Amino acid sequence: MPAARNKVGFTMKNTPRTREQLLSARLRQLADAGLMRQRRRLDSPLTPHAIMEGQKMLAFASNDYLGLAAHPDIIAAMAQGARDWGAGSGASHLISGHLKAHETLERRLAEFTGFDRCLVFSAGYLANLAVTPTLAAGRDDAIFADRLNHASLIDAARLSRARQHRYPHGDMAALERLLAQSAAKTKVIVSDAVFSMDGDLAPLSDLFRLAERFDAWLVIDDAHGFGVLGPEGRGSLAHCGIRPHPRILLMATLGKAAGTSGAFVAGSALAIEYLLQNARSYIFTTAQPPAIAAAATKSLEIIQNDEARRAHLRALIRQLQTGCAALPWRLLPSETAIQPLMLGENDKALALSQQLWRRGLWVAAIRPPTVPPGTARLRISLSAAHGENDVAELINALRELA
Ligand SMILES: Cc1ncc(COP(=O)(O)O)c(C=O)c1O
Repeated sequence: MPAARNKVGFTMKNTPRTREQLLSARLRQLADAGLMRQRRRLDSPLTPHAIMEGQKMLAFASNDYLGLAAHPDIIAAMAQGARDWGAGSGASHLISGHLKAHETLERRLAEFTGFDRCLVFSAGYLANLAVTPTLAAGRDDAIFADRLNHASLIDAARLSRARQHRYPHGDMAALERLLAQSAAKTKVIVSDAVFSMDGDLAPLSDLFRLAERFDAWLVIDDAHGFGVLGPEGRGSLAHCGIRPHPRILLMATLGKAAGTSGAFVAGSALAIEYLLQNARSYIFTTAQPPAIAAAATKSLEIIQNDEARRAHLRALIRQLQTGCAALPWRLLPSETAIQPLMLGENDKALALSQQLWRRGLWVAAIRPPTVPPGTARLRISLSAAHGENDVAELINALRELA
């Protein structure tokens, strides 16, 4: 009998017979390949100095880039939001779950990003599922995606019947060729702005130029740039000097630099109305709890006014880059809070993460399928809530372990 190949691509010589045997065999293979994942339990709020599984740890593992997740004013806004509007929204936006707290947040986000209109979602995953397959739904349409796009963008493309094209990471010549060859009725170019596991910035100006030339939509996921990059933290498009345009749809999450939860999509009034009427992951899900919308509205105010947080974060990034220069492992070139230290093999990344853990430092090892095989890494994630001493402690530990 030929060897069976399971979903994650492992060959199984002795094909298991029962459902339980099948799951156990797949889990064993994940473990053998160094790909088992483990959740770490936090026993305190998420701050760099956190209690994790009963131990005091210094954490470099969150996306709370501006240190807002435990900000007292945002916590107070969330508590007040719950008192004003209740704990849950009770329904989807189009039934009866669209509260004034959501509407206020949408209006402020539109003002902040400069787009006509915004839609708020309860997760970035859902926001991404809403955009690409709604714009490019049919077999006559085509989606052009960077190979390193976030899983939610990849899954979004899978929901569409459109032709899929994935171009090598950041390769604008390849994208241009694909666009030139395409006779699709609707073309959608989709890319992370800041790549979540590499920390590098997409060539946004080139993407926009190609979108203009080939009359395509440009869908940008700015989960990791919003709040961090650009004047007043307006995000990656503003950072690159790209003004809002009717062919751009901008998605960003509120669970990273904004320190809360959920996401939004910003665009022209027409495009947003089209999503509201058609996007299944907007229509068929309960609206974000209104207290979170109230908290995110407060967070937006802090993002806009507290430039010192971004300046401090930039100083920490430079400190880490300088401190890691002599290590045997290389940091990927990244000017953002995401600083990946490349180890290559899964076991090496896991072992270094575990050695740091034993010294009270929490840095996540990132392995396939989150990143391509052979590119396992430590994803060092910096936050404005870190101090210089914290970064120095991490650098010293890495030097000793090297
Ligand atoms: C680039 C990117 N897009 C989308 C998401 C999904 O956002 P959310 O966590 O709000 O579902 C994430 C991470 O979670 C991300 O890194």
